[in-house]
Amino acid sequence: MAILGVESAIFGVDDLELCTRFWTDFGLTPLSRTDDESVFEVASGSKIVVRRRGDPRSPATYAGKVGMQETIWGVDTQEAFDALVADLSRDREISFDADGAAHFFCDDGMPIGLKVWNKRQVVSQPDPVNAPGNIQRLNLHRKWRRRCLPKTINHVVFFVHDYVASLEFFIERLGFRYTDHSRGAGVFARADGTHEHHSIFFVSTALPVAPDDPGFMHIAFGLEDIDELMLGVNQMQQKGWTNTSQNSSGGLSRHRISSAIYYYFDNPNGGEAEYHVDTDYLDDNWVPRVWDWKFGSLLWATKTPSFWEGEVAWDMQFDADRRSLEPFRRPGGVGDKNGNLPDKLDTLTEEDEHAI
Ligand SMILES: [Fe+2]
Repeated sequence: MAILGVESAIFGVDDLELCTRFWTDFGLTPLSRTDDESVFEVASGSKIVVRRRGDPRSPATYAGKVGMQETIWGVDTQEAFDALVADLSRDREISFDADGAAHFFCDDGMPIGLKVWNKRQVVSQPDPVNAPGNIQRLNLHRKWRRRCLPKTINHVVFFVHDYVASLEFFIERLGFRYTDHSRGAGVFARADGTHEHHSIFFVSTALPVAPDDPGFMHIAFGLEDIDELMLGVNQMQQKGWTNTSQNSSGGLSRHRISSAIYYYFDNPNGGEAEYHVDTDYLDDNWVPRVWDWKFGSLLWATKTPSFWEGEVAWDMQFDADRRSLEPFRRPGGVGDKNGNLPDKLDTLTEEDEHAI
């Protein structure tokens, strides 16, 4: 039984024309376009679906907000799909649409779906890297590309009030694996049929930078290597797309947690869209760790964010038993399985601030 990753991400937007242009410029392959919907795909077959905000086909949970309205997770077999649906239907309503997708709400009110998915195999051949005395390319130059073409949807990120409760639902009911904990900031989890470091990241709404409101934050697309990423950045910038958060996100940077190099773009579809390359790949031998969030967030950045100035303590421990998560439960921070999100909570208490 395995979930293979994001089969489709469904967005609700105000300006369908502008949002369609964004994904086209971003390098996605257009599949279809009607008056009220644009559909794109990447090499793996994962889709981006863009509809107008409030479209009756999308769940109402985030209807008031521009952004991702629903994540459809792809399942490897009909048997696995049936087993997941049978378990989930014990304690929640499940609706089915004509193409066989099952739709429901997680315990925290987040709308998601499941669908049997024949995920396409992706072909990549990153250029080998040369170093003094370690020649991997002799008389061979690096690949020339015409444009950046995203291969996969690697992860989605949502703000939630109680990231411990949100994680537990994904582990216990969907078979996800806990991968790492950024102490006080959020928690990473990997779908059982994937190897990317994380398929979902739950970010605490209590963070000073976070809205005190659950909802979509960003979606990340996997690329072949840094050349493809930088070509994509150059081409997006030439078309006028920007990253206004680059002072806080670091611009082009490498995370320490997950090792991935990343670059975000402000996304008229809501939140941000991320180009993402050279991430860690994991299997079930991985031992989860808990990190000081500042230490874990960056290995380097091209624009040093203010939180990263000065000494950042090297702080990481293994956390196989998930014990590090306990102090970060937020009672009252969970919605319900009818798609109602929790009420707003206060931002950080002094105690939280100290714990982070
Ligand atoms: Fe990301």
